Amino acid sequence: MSGGSASASEVQPERAPGGASSAPALEAVDVTRSYALDGVSVEALRGVSLTIAQGDYVAVVGPSGSGKSTLMHLLGGLDRPTTGTLRVGGRDVADLTEDELAQVRNETLGFVFQAFQLLPRTSAVDNVAMPLVYRGVKRLERRDRAVAALTQVGMGHRLDHRPNQLSGGEQQRVAIARALVGQPQVLLADEPTGNLDSRTGEEVMALLERLNAEQGVAVVLVTHDRDVAARARRQVRVRDGRLEPPSPGHPQHPGAGDVPRRLEA
Ligand SMILES: Nc1ncnc2c1ncn2[C@@H]1O[C@H](COP(=O)(O)OP(=O)(O)OP(=O)(O)O)[C@@H](O)[C@H]1O
Ligand SMILES: [Mg+2]
Repeated sequence: MSGGSASASEVQPERAPGGASSAPALEAVDVTRSYALDGVSVEALRGVSLTIAQGDYVAVVGPSGSGKSTLMHLLGGLDRPTTGTLRVGGRDVADLTEDELAQVRNETLGFVFQAFQLLPRTSAVDNVAMPLVYRGVKRLERRDRAVAALTQVGMGHRLDHRPNQLSGGEQQRVAIARALVGQPQVLLADEPTGNLDSRTGEEVMALLERLNAEQGVAVVLVTHDRDVAARARRQVRVRDGRLEPPSPGHPQHPGAGDVPRRLEA
């Protein structure tokens, strides 16, 4: 809607004095997502409503193929719902052009993928600085901010290493630094510890929790690890494209409730 007339539906996020929006960070209202595959419609999400508050810490759990990554892509503005409403900082993504959505994503959201998705022939510091290129930040400031983000994740001593010269945990920390460099309000992480050994996974979790507790960054993470999920402030469980109702005290699905359980052995 850039350059268009301001309509009533063009909700501007209310800004609190600190610069943070007072609207929920993310809101999905009855969203569905269908994929057309060989003429057959695959309903990956069948009507999900979820609100992520500012400073929230939510674990998304559920079986393989249940729709977790699809939900994360919608929440992260990487994809749009087939039906339903998705708001980022109070703004309906349906009202945004692709460019405007990309800008909202770049300025308010950080994404960490299981497979890191770093540029292979690019140094750590340049990988981390990349999101700032799209914001038009000047080269020297980009580097300063990338160095600061890498230092924050304990990678200040590996600025010029390329991804294949880093361990898995180090690559994941670079990916987190890249997600952080733009000072997002929300960090979305799809199995951020899935490829890591337990000690390195623990370091990454501690890092995410510090960002949440000390900087108020809302964290939404997908995990198959019950111990990791149990550390979140709340858990949401996806099954067959729907959220199971939050159930502490109301276990509607015995054996699949939100009560944290220990990993077997
Ligand atoms: N691009 C696509 N085209 C067609 N079907 C898709 C596509 N992406 C996902 N799906 C289907 O949608 C469903 C949900 O997929 P999704 O990736 O969200 O699952 P998930 O919960 O993240 O699983 P996992 O834990 O294995 O990562 C799956 O049945 C999947 O096969
Ligand atoms: Mg997935």
